[in-house]
Amino acid sequence: MPTFFCFRPATLVLALLAGPVLAQPARPTPPTTANQLPPAAAPVVARHALVVSAHPVASKVGRDVMQQGGNAYDAAVAVQFALAVVLPVAGNIGGGGFIVYRSKDGTAGTLDFRETAPAAASRDMYLDAQGNVVPGRSTAGPLAVGTPGSVAGMEALHKKLGKLSWAKLVAPAVRLARYGVALTEKEAAGLNRTQADFTKYNPGSPPVFVRPTPWQKGDTLKQPALAATLERIQDQGRAGFYQGRTAELLLAEMKKGGGLLTQQDLTSYQPKWRDALRGTYRGYDVITMPPPSSGGVALLQILQMLEPSNLGKLGYHTPAAVALITEAERRAYADRATYLGDPDFGRVPVAQLLAKDYNKQRGTTIRSDGQATPSTQITASPGLLHYESDQTTHYDIVDAQGNAVSCTTTLNGAYGSKVVVEGAGFLLNNEMDDFSSKPGVPNAYGLVGGVANAIQPGKRMLSSMTPTILAKNGKLALVTGSPGGSTIITTVLQSILSVVDYGANAEQTAAAPRLHHQWLPDQLDVEAGALPPATVQTLKEKGFNPQPRAPWGRLDVIRILPNGQLEGGPDPRGDDAAVGY
Ligand code: GLY
Repeated sequence: MPTFFCFRPATLVLALLAGPVLAQPARPTPPTTANQLPPAAAPVVARHALVVSAHPVASKVGRDVMQQGGNAYDAAVAVQFALAVVLPVAGNIGGGGFIVYRSKDGTAGTLDFRETAPAAASRDMYLDAQGNVVPGRSTAGPLAVGTPGSVAGMEALHKKLGKLSWAKLVAPAVRLARYGVALTEKEAAGLNRTQADFTKYNPGSPPVFVRPTPWQKGDTLKQPALAATLERIQDQGRAGFYQGRTAELLLAEMKKGGGLLTQQDLTSYQPKWRDALRGTYRGYDVITMPPPSSGGVALLQILQMLEPSNLGKLGYHTPAAVALITEAERRAYADRATYLGDPDFGRVPVAQLLAKDYNKQRGTTIRSDGQATPSTQITASPGLLHYESDQTTHYDIVDAQGNAVSCTTTLNGAYGSKVVVEGAGFLLNNEMDDFSSKPGVPNAYGLVGGVANAIQPGKRMLSSMTPTILAKNGKLALVTGSPGGSTIITTVLQSILSVVDYGANAEQTAAAPRLHHQWLPDQLDVEAGALPPATVQTLKEKGFNPQPRAPWGRLDVIRILPNGQLEGGPDPRGDDAAVGY
């Protein structure tokens, strides 16, 4: 069968990659007409199955698994482990994530493998004696680490939905770690930027990422300690990570640096199957992630507020359309800040927030003259917002039977806590920073959070990750998701609007320059090329506060065409690649 493969010019292709390059997406260009997304390179189209992920090697690993008879869930396991090797900045076994899936028979669900706070964690653990947040304590080093969920999550996914043997799915990652991966330009730059932090947070045991001369694109990164850890996982499943040698090494690392994780935290970690959140938008079923992600709730609220308006008629990125979308975002993010946290630790009023009447009423407060409502006038109830950092990664997979996986997974910050477990070769997350260190008061970054997201032992920290699947008339229609911290929700929103309201293809959707508003700060983030200068001026006159912002997010989408073929849109901002057959 023919191979369909697409990658970015900046991506170094390994010898193990094969297949013709079909398309090289162009850089985003400014919109030219009022009602259309900017043109982009031709999307990748696959007849049977497709993977879109943040790295071409990981996408190829997933494609190979499906060509060997595996389903989308098998491919997800293999891609997750491969990303932990080829994308150390965000791929992981030391972090966590969320999966939204939709099976070929239309049943859907979610898997929550989010990290949890260690049992010894406490609400004020990042504060000093005066009650002030200690800069850096929640963001780097062993104290920033939550109990990792990724390995347990992958085992749960495989046990429930997988077909091929576990060992076969972990094998590609073992090989990549042992024999090496050629660095892309972006990954080499990321490692070079982080040399000082790797040295600082791994005193006396510089990890494999540290070297005296700068990394270059094409250099081979071999990770023998990680290969050995992956072999233990390959042989023993979750026990190869949460017990035995890997656990010993992890706990030794904690002891060295004053981290809180114990054997009990590791042994008791459980991923959770949760019902998917479901909503509708213009005839599409929207299947998305419930709390402890805030993403699904906020996304569905925004869609509900937008649905009464004809966005297509208002035009793409026109002042009227931007004003409407921004106002809906402002309201949903205000609610998010106040009400959302881990539902296992407190009541999260999901049903009320998603009640049609509630959002209809919320929508009626949006001014019909396109004028901004200042965020100071929008409150849900007292409470403020927490931002997450944006070094996360996302992948979409659809197999030949029509099973679909949308997975967003993270270490939180770039290279997580920067702590690499000595002898085990994997990076640990700094997900504890996604809690609000001091509810209601700005943290070290000037950011604030609500009481619902305060630290408690065993609790999951609030997330914005929004893996999402759309279906129409019982048929799979779109698989979408992105990294980007608090911007994830609006990036996923824009992918849905692009396809549903503006009829864009997958590559246009991934490439289109973005906008973002999150209530506080009261500003509209504008990526270069997203708005013509005249629109920026009009928005200013209407009371909005447009601010230029460097590109964010890595939106990966799969759109299912009317003929059943799969159209992949990897984000041209990264090394993302669509590989199918
Ligand atoms: N750490 C990013 C998020 O969970 O939203």
